[in-house]
Amino acid sequence: MSSASAGPTNAGLAGRVALVTGAGRNVGAGIAHALAAAGAHVAVNDLHGERAEATAQEIIARGGTAIAIAADVCDAEQVRAACDATIRELGPIDILVNNAGVPDAGVPLQAFRDMPIEDWDRYLRLNLHAVLLCAKAVLDPMCDRGFGRIITITSEAGRLGVPPGLSLYAAGKAGAAGFSRVLAHEVGKFGVTVNCVSLGPMENATMREQVLKAMPTRRYGTPADVGAAVAYLASPGASWVTGQTLAVNGGHFTT
Ligand SMILES: NC(=O)c1ccc[n+]([C@@H]2O[C@H](COP(=O)([O-])OP(=O)(O)OC[C@H]3O[C@@H](n4cnc5c(N)ncnc54)[C@H](O)[C@@H]3O)[C@@H](O)[C@H]2O)c1
Repeated sequence: MSSASAGPTNAGLAGRVALVTGAGRNVGAGIAHALAAAGAHVAVNDLHGERAEATAQEIIARGGTAIAIAADVCDAEQVRAACDATIRELGPIDILVNNAGVPDAGVPLQAFRDMPIEDWDRYLRLNLHAVLLCAKAVLDPMCDRGFGRIITITSEAGRLGVPPGLSLYAAGKAGAAGFSRVLAHEVGKFGVTVNCVSLGPMENATMREQVLKAMPTRRYGTPADVGAAVAYLASPGASWVTGQTLAVNGGHFTT
């Protein structure tokens, strides 16, 4: 009788270095905490330095290792500088989590027919272009070292096309998912996996009561729910999972 050899496990990210974008609050903070709890050393990025600092301090207070990095991930120079600071202070980046994203680009939701062309880039810069910038910045060293995890937070709005008023947000998120699938093909042979986690409505979303009633789990998602999914995809046990989009949605959208 042959015995199964010990394969990869989900057991921990000890010593791994993670950069999480937009991690100063909510979902990104939950991801940073989950990775730190699994043993990763976390670079907490946010556009707002004080938010990044707050998350990093919380991680440190819980016995983890973290640094805060204020940077705009839409800006190539600032992305480069954020990666350089991470490498200098924590070591080579093993895990990139593209979390920073926004559904409304600071303006009220608009139907596509009403949306001026000049507004399009406000949605696409953060939800798509920043994902490409961050991936570009970390990929070569990951491939050279033979290990990497790139995980992008997308949305059920982009995967399934709901709800109305989010067409450009959906375009950005779906673009990031398509990009990730092709990138997974390109870099799998170097030990780098590329996946997405597609979120349903989180607890800070404003949804109608009937949406909650239609949710099989009868509750909105939490940053901890997302953090657990990301920690899995970052783990050694997920080394054969790539090019995928994991829906973390409370079972609401089952298409
Ligand atoms: N909240 C939801 O219901 C929901 C649903 C589906 C998907 N998502 C996705 O989850 C991710 C996190 O959502 P959230 O609700 O926690 O967002 P949030 O707005 O609460 O937090 C995002 C953080 O990103 C930071 N940020 C914004 N622009 C940045 C930039 N250019 N560079 C660096 N940091 C920047 C912000 O300062 C903020 O702290 C996003 O990608 C979002 O699209 C959220």
